Amino acid sequence: MTTEIRTVVVLGAGTMGSQIAAVCALAGYGTSLVDISQDQLDRARTQLEQRLSRDVEKDRRTREDVDAAWDRLTLTTDRDAAAATADLVIEAAVEDLSVKRTIFSELDAVCPGHTLLVTNSSNIVSSRVADATSRPDRVCNLHFFNPALVMVCVEVVPHPGTAPETVDRIVSFVESLGKTPVRLKQEIPGFVANRLLGALRREALELYEAGIADFQDIDVAAKTALGHPMGPFELMDLVGIDVVHLIRLAEYEQTGDPASLPAASIKEKYEAGDFGRKTGRGWYEYPQS
Ligand SMILES: NC(=O)c1ccc[n+]([C@@H]2O[C@H](COP(=O)([O-])OP(=O)(O)OC[C@H]3O[C@@H](n4cnc5c(N)ncnc54)[C@H](O)[C@@H]3O)[C@@H](O)[C@H]2O)c1
Repeated sequence: MTTEIRTVVVLGAGTMGSQIAAVCALAGYGTSLVDISQDQLDRARTQLEQRLSRDVEKDRRTREDVDAAWDRLTLTTDRDAAAATADLVIEAAVEDLSVKRTIFSELDAVCPGHTLLVTNSSNIVSSRVADATSRPDRVCNLHFFNPALVMVCVEVVPHPGTAPETVDRIVSFVESLGKTPVRLKQEIPGFVANRLLGALRREALELYEAGIADFQDIDVAAKTALGHPMGPFELMDLVGIDVVHLIRLAEYEQTGDPASLPAASIKEKYEAGDFGRKTGRGWYEYPQS
């Protein structure tokens, strides 16, 4: 049965989920943003109010569009009530496989049969959650980038059991959000954009660790020769050395390949607590004001 997507539930009101819900509401979908924590929902509301008001001040959106989006957006802890009428659920909860499996199995029990269930996970491919449901053909990854209100690329990643019709519908949904879908033919942890970034980061670290060039000069080359807005080392400091370290450990957990493990210089900074901008020191120094 094909049902048009009208109502969307976004599960998890953190960094990603709150902005994904705003994107859906702005595009005209009746949207529920669900979290287990009321505090998190309150924080999400405050942050979205600030963000969207700033967009209006800077003429990026009209006040009418933003007000209409707020009319379409509900923030709630009542997941099952929201899920009972959802055509699409976008899971953006914490990056933990067992939590996600529980969520998918519970959603499967409360959502209508036609509801598509997708995960925004960056690394956990959807085959690892699809078998927790009775509808693996309606499950895939739908991967937004941070900040979701701004970033245009959205990756659509089927697992071997995803129905082609599900992929088509999710691709159309992404287009209806004003975003650009990137359609993968097969699942692979990290998908396309983050793997490209990972390859650049790995090479940058290898060049640095082999003593070929200083990290500052590698950053200069990426910016001035390749036109990247930031060098790979500056970007690691922005993302967080702790996050970079954890991404590699998660990849190792999936591949079992020692080449996936964090580079020695990353491990060293991680163990020293030098996480980048957030701690005042990573590859570069950031005086804390
Ligand atoms: N942060 C990023 O840059 C980024 C980018 C792309 C994808 N992702 C992926 O998006 C997902 C969310 O990441 P995030 O950075 O927004 O995380 P976050 O920690 O900011 O938010 C997660 C939210 O999920 C809520 N939550 C936990 N268990 C829940 C449950 N059972 N039901 C409902 N809500 C629950 C938490 O209360 C929290 O508010 C992860 O899978 C992550 O891999 C993150």
